[in-house]
Amino acid sequence: MDKIVIVGGRRLQGDVRISGAKNGALPVLVSSLLVDGWNTFHNIPDLLDIKTIRKLLGSLGVKIEGEETVRINAGGITRCEASYDLVRTMRASILVLGPLVARMGEARVSLPGGCAIGARPVNLHIQALRDLGAEVTLKDGYVEAKASRLRGATLYFDISTVTGTENIMMAATLAEGTTILKNAAHEPEIVNLAEVLIGMGARIRGAGTDVIVIDGVKSLHPVEAAVIPDRIEAGTFLIAAGMTGGDVRILGCNPLHLDVLIARLRDAGMRIDVDGEALRAAGGGTVKSVDVKTLPYPGFPTDLQAQIMAMMALGNGLSVITETVFENRFMHVSEMMRMGADIVIQGTSAIVRGVAKLRGAPVMATDLRASASLILAGLAAEGTTTLSRVYHIDRGYQQIEKKLSALGADIRRIAGF
Ligand code: EPU
Repeated sequence: MDKIVIVGGRRLQGDVRISGAKNGALPVLVSSLLVDGWNTFHNIPDLLDIKTIRKLLGSLGVKIEGEETVRINAGGITRCEASYDLVRTMRASILVLGPLVARMGEARVSLPGGCAIGARPVNLHIQALRDLGAEVTLKDGYVEAKASRLRGATLYFDISTVTGTENIMMAATLAEGTTILKNAAHEPEIVNLAEVLIGMGARIRGAGTDVIVIDGVKSLHPVEAAVIPDRIEAGTFLIAAGMTGGDVRILGCNPLHLDVLIARLRDAGMRIDVDGEALRAAGGGTVKSVDVKTLPYPGFPTDLQAQIMAMMALGNGLSVITETVFENRFMHVSEMMRMGADIVIQGTSAIVRGVAKLRGAPVMATDLRASASLILAGLAAEGTTTLSRVYHIDRGYQQIEKKLSALGADIRRIAGF
């Protein structure tokens, strides 16, 4: 298995271009299941998770061509089942459930099970499909859903769920009548998906707010659309600039999607200038300790919690980082402590007492964003950090070591351990 080796202490400088959003591209590619014909999607990132969704869609009989621009045709679906092997490696595979039932009248999708960041059930997806009239049973570890045609209904999500909202929004586009999704998630990726579906002829309003209203239509048509830039990748590079006292221009991002992070980083002493679709970020020397609480969008993203913690590990005081979205997303803490960080977990909060220096160490990635945080810690640390289990980072960051070394980092991948 590959490892990433970082010699810390280099100041990052220069331009970096942001790729398409992983969590935008996954539902957009899946939305092709709703349509008979060739769709064209631009700005698809080159990631392990994208390979997984392509494999899954391919196993259903969907034709897929191209890389950054993908042409995709679900005209000849031959199978309505997502196997355990695929769902286990990527929970977002559950996204095929709603579209398959809506278009094909049936779906069989493995239950994802737990994962490194929490139990992460899919009960809300299942309940919402039942509310739309599907007959849903759980059998042999699989969700089996059937409906001759889904019927619109008013639904309420107890918890704001991103893929749950996406799954049901897709399903409802082909339902009979109107669906009202209450307490819908607000993430920009949901707005991106809604725009793609509207381009296919779906009738959706309210995406990006608490209440999404979908008037079902009989069929949808192919579309050409683009995936939004990855706000989590952009945020990770912003933090990298801050932690290394660097000066980095982050190109091709949407600064509006990063409002709360930018505010926190300015509080922490960084200078950040917004210029259209670019951000210029400069570290201000001392990192001021700030408190952070993760929340659904537009709150501070849980997908940047580990990365801001790496920065706060070098803060000038005490920082309280509270995780409210997932119950077990502090797996990076023990690895950061091996690098000299001073962190105590108390319930859902991590109390981070800033230290003057982190020291390089061998560390292990436990999930995607934890890996990113350890790379950030390694960039700022004294000495060499070796990150193992790097397949986690490959799930969601396109060529991170190449992008960082172009900014002057001393980082390389060693193949085949
Ligand atoms: N939840 C339930 N029941 C459900 C669905 C969710 O209890 O049926 C709970 C979850 O366990 C969690 C909370 O609701 O505590 C929110 O989870 P959500 O459903 O919003 O998460 P998700 O849709 O599975 C997406 C992203 C995650 C990101 C979260 C939160 C995709 C493909 N994944 O997951 O991304 O952390 O939203 O913003 O969009 C990542 O990219 O590293 C990543 C984990």
